[in-house]
Amino acid sequence: MAFPKGFLWGGATAANQLEGAYDQDGKGLSIMDVLSRGSNRDPRMITGVNEDGECFEFPMGATRHLKENESLACVDIRDYPNHQGIDFYHRYPEDLALLAQMGIRCLRISIAWSRIFPTGEEKMPNEEGLRYYERLIDEMRKYHIEPMITLSHYETPVALCEKYNGWANRKMVELFIRYARVCFERFLPKVKYWLTFNEINVLEYYPYMEAGGLGYDECDLAFAAYHQFLASAMTVSLAHEMRKDAMIGCMITYPCLYPYSCHPQDMLVYTKGNRSTYFYTDVMCRGRYPSYKKKEYERKGINLPVQEGDLEKLKTGTVDYIGFSYYTSNVVASSNELETTSGNMSQSVKNPYLQRSEWGWQIDPVGLRITLSNLYERYGLPLFIVENGLGAKDVLEKDGTIHDEYRIEYIRRHVEEIEKAIEDDGVEVLGYLVWGIIDLVSASTGEFIKRYGMIHVECDEQGNGSLIRRPKDSFYWYRDWIAKH
Ligand code: BG6
Repeated sequence: MAFPKGFLWGGATAANQLEGAYDQDGKGLSIMDVLSRGSNRDPRMITGVNEDGECFEFPMGATRHLKENESLACVDIRDYPNHQGIDFYHRYPEDLALLAQMGIRCLRISIAWSRIFPTGEEKMPNEEGLRYYERLIDEMRKYHIEPMITLSHYETPVALCEKYNGWANRKMVELFIRYARVCFERFLPKVKYWLTFNEINVLEYYPYMEAGGLGYDECDLAFAAYHQFLASAMTVSLAHEMRKDAMIGCMITYPCLYPYSCHPQDMLVYTKGNRSTYFYTDVMCRGRYPSYKKKEYERKGINLPVQEGDLEKLKTGTVDYIGFSYYTSNVVASSNELETTSGNMSQSVKNPYLQRSEWGWQIDPVGLRITLSNLYERYGLPLFIVENGLGAKDVLEKDGTIHDEYRIEYIRRHVEEIEKAIEDDGVEVLGYLVWGIIDLVSASTGEFIKRYGMIHVECDEQGNGSLIRRPKDSFYWYRDWIAKH
């Protein structure tokens, strides 16, 4: 059997997408709390009010600064799906009991930074927030489910976005390390697996979501990446000081890239395209900036704000493993006249050989095997697939069943490719986590009908419904798969 003993089969979630209780027990606003519901066609809007109480809004992908008299806030004309999530905050005991029945061995959660430090700058952490995560982790341990924690999964406190404009400002490093230290002091003895920044390479596409930044230009992006690399390295070193066998990983989204053709110009675009992913892992796995990035900054006149000791920190704080999300492969071409389709936080030229999900994401299990090889051969570090899954519209039958054979097919084909990567290519894989193992709010569109779960949550697009949980067919399939492997 290819899967090694101790392989961590499980599921993944993020606080802002399922907890709800967005303003309870001392929690401050996070950037996701002021993001409205969107759809595949309408973008999610960032909302707020000005000093005169007038509302404003703009799409989350827009390049716009906050004006001096403006602050981020929830407004009446919009609704905010993350406020309720699936009310996991109150219902997690029931959810964990169901997940335990499925036999999962690992659950990835994130800590909402603003539950611990509501504005990011309080002198003391919010004890109620810490106690919630403590109860949650203890409950996981009760079922022998290994927790994995993401420290920052698109959850910057709103106050830090307003005051510092997010990670382009070095102050964020200090505040993040303070937050990480509090989390480690409390949870490190109980939690071995950690991730620093979720999909750090999304920074270039959605700086608001990834780095709490608005109106970023190229220089801001370079600074924000630099500060996050520094924070990541310092976090890794800190964790190792506090617990020798701690496993701290980076996390990227990896859209396996293909050139449209074997034309040298397409190959060149492909080579350069790959760099926008590898740049992040190059720094966090090798501890230094790659030459192609140094040249690019030189050309653009960008000087990184390096301070004494920084480079040493980057060098010593390299990650223990690479966590990545994989949903789709993307095609790039030198021509911009080809038909495109959407991918995870990205766009791709249509691949004629692949089918697409209802949201246009190209389905490519073999791409996962290629991804595993690419990353392992480049860095030689253990890999962890911390997100993979299919967003689809499910039908709740009258008898309460949900027949999601398309999801079973998607997952089965992907895990079979992992098996080949381990068995035939010799890749070291620590585990596999199904994204949104329980239905939750979509990050990119804010929809609820884009479901990933193996556990169904009864809730319509407006957030109405009993929130009753029901196993889907994929629940039983995964349970059997885990038992067998
Ligand atoms: C990843 C994120 O981008 O993909 C998750 O880490 C997200 O937060 C997942 O939910 C699926 O994307 P979406 O946009 O369909 O929710």
